[in-house]
Amino acid sequence: MLILRTARAIHKWSAQCKRAGKKIAVVPTMGYLHDGHISLVKRARKAVGKSGFVVVTIYVNPTQFGPKEDLSRYPRDFKRDARMCTQAGVDVIFAPADSEMYPGGLEQGFSTYIVEEKLSQRMEGASRPTHFRGVTTVVGKLFNLVGPDVAVFGAKDFQQAAVVRRMIRDLNFPIRLIVAPTHREADGLAMSSRNKYLTEEQRPQAVALIQSIRLARKLVAGKNISTRALISKLSQFIGKFPETKLDYIEVFNPETLKPQDKAGKGSQIALAVFYGKTRLIDNGRL
Ligand code: PAJ
Repeated sequence: MLILRTARAIHKWSAQCKRAGKKIAVVPTMGYLHDGHISLVKRARKAVGKSGFVVVTIYVNPTQFGPKEDLSRYPRDFKRDARMCTQAGVDVIFAPADSEMYPGGLEQGFSTYIVEEKLSQRMEGASRPTHFRGVTTVVGKLFNLVGPDVAVFGAKDFQQAAVVRRMIRDLNFPIRLIVAPTHREADGLAMSSRNKYLTEEQRPQAVALIQSIRLARKLVAGKNISTRALISKLSQFIGKFPETKLDYIEVFNPETLKPQDKAGKGSQIALAVFYGKTRLIDNGRL
């Protein structure tokens, strides 16, 4: 497995692959890998086959964190990540320094961003106003650097996948996007690098997210019901878990992300819940 750290090195590597007619699949991550990330690696391998190359990018992207968010304490363990990637059959890790991704620094030098203006407004975009600008900018840059044929993202971050799909279409990136299913712990909690922040008391309460989604499916039960009534019941349900603070629940069309007044079969539900400072998200199809 190759570990590349500079823009120049990955560009050169990618150009070589292309000359040899090889396919490239990329899995962008912020590291501190878990089995959810590895499931994306496996999906990437399936997409390009044995003769293709799988690239995992590991970069804790500062521009997608708000000023009061967890950038400085975001968990990192490169050695462990590299071991997991080797075991999973990854061909290349691209792990750049900030100076490679944001030349001249974010204060003085770097001044070009990619902004998606519609799908990124609500939910994560409303709670984290500069988040998606950071995501689209860094993902666009990673696409330019790696030059992939295929990119694999997780359904865990449903809105992120939708925003990236729109960016790929709008900016003509010649990339096939694959969205892989959410990988979960035995009790249903969606795997996330941020689960590490949960205290012993908070961890059992974190099932509130998946249990809300399951409850929503039960309440809908194939009918069309009022979204307002559904959200009110789910808020009550979440309120019963001590240590939780609901950030948002939305019911929307999974293609357009437009909120729906009626929740029914085929609607998407997404929610964000705080456990102290830790904010967890999840989503599912009704
Ligand atoms: P990160 O949170 O590290 O997630 C990297 C990828 O793994 C994303 O596509 C995410 O949806 C997926 N993922 C996370 N948990 C998952 C799970 N339990 N099951 C399946 N897939 C899961 O998302 C980011 O990083 C960043 O925003 C990034 C796209 C790398 C841009 O910086």
